[in-house]
Amino acid sequence: MRVGLNYARIIAAASAVPSRIVTNDDLAGLMETSDEWISTRTGIKRRHISTGETTSFLASQVAGKLLDQARISPEDIELIIVATMSPDAYTPSVAARVQASIGARNAACFDLSAACSGFVYALEAGEKLLTRDGACALVIGAEVLSKLLDWSERSTAVLFGDGAGGVLIKRDAPERRFLASSLKTYGEMADSIKAGEIQAGCFPKTCLTYRPFQMDGRAVYKFATHEVPETIRAVCQKAGVKLGQVDRFLLHQANYRIIKQVARRLELPLAKFPVNIADYGNTSAASEAILLSECWQKQEVQKGDLVLLAGFGGGLTTAGMLVRL
Ligand code: ACO
Repeated sequence: MRVGLNYARIIAAASAVPSRIVTNDDLAGLMETSDEWISTRTGIKRRHISTGETTSFLASQVAGKLLDQARISPEDIELIIVATMSPDAYTPSVAARVQASIGARNAACFDLSAACSGFVYALEAGEKLLTRDGACALVIGAEVLSKLLDWSERSTAVLFGDGAGGVLIKRDAPERRFLASSLKTYGEMADSIKAGEIQAGCFPKTCLTYRPFQMDGRAVYKFATHEVPETIRAVCQKAGVKLGQVDRFLLHQANYRIIKQVARRLELPLAKFPVNIADYGNTSAASEAILLSECWQKQEVQKGDLVLLAGFGGGLTTAGMLVRL
């Protein structure tokens, strides 16, 4: 139930990536692949890969930048949510590590697992949990997927990258800014994307080996090109906004072909769909947050713009949200 008079809005956006860049040609030196195969099938040219940077390190960098940008002190943060499928550990949460790193001692902290849809799920949770006027939350998507990949499995290894992005939301807007959302889960398709599965029932041995990333690429492709347009339509319908009124569609950066197909299905100009997949690959929960941050820094999105975030991922999940900046 709403207690105060104000609504949440996004007041800062930032991102952070490992400094090491691995190009498609670099990968072609490690496995049987080529820049031509990767870029024509996915739009990816390069990705940032950790040389030791952890998920919590990248998320903490984002958190620090958000505080600087918004000129807010760490004690004013009430909530930190990190969406991730590649935490440093099962416990402590990445969010707890971020809290310690920036000194946000008043913040409640937790991680959220919804794979590539995680950032939008986390935004929804953050907006709902900020109940006090003036309260602030950090909502971050952060991944080090390189540690979950089987680097001898070319069909998945070439697709992903590491990075983090996030926003600072504050409840001080006189009118509603988080206009509508659609969060869905298709548990019956859970096996289409799996990573880090650990065997159970090893007693009295110790179960600590996990399975690397596995994906049914074609099934996911079909799912995404069908469900993402549906999600976008549903969100606009709930908000009473026509597709053409949306200024920018920030889609999960998994595959440029998927993004083009979504734009085509919705009969929308591709120019309304910013992309950065060439430089980052698929960074899962971080992808829409990094894209939003880049558009924000370059002023490709402006205060007052209608921005629709939408994605899909492990679960399987879909998530869409319409926000007025
Ligand atoms: N380099 C060269 N050849 C390759 C590579 C590679 N890296 N990977 C696969 N191939 C080969 C295959 O072995 C196959 O060869 P064959 O025909 O001799 O058997 C051929 O290329 C075609 O393989 P497909 O898998 O059919 O290729 P497709 O055109 O379907 O593209 C892709 C694969 C890019 C993965 C596509 O299916 C896709 O983008 N799917 C969606 C994935 C996605 O978006 N995932 C996001 C969710 S992830 C998450 O939630 C964390």
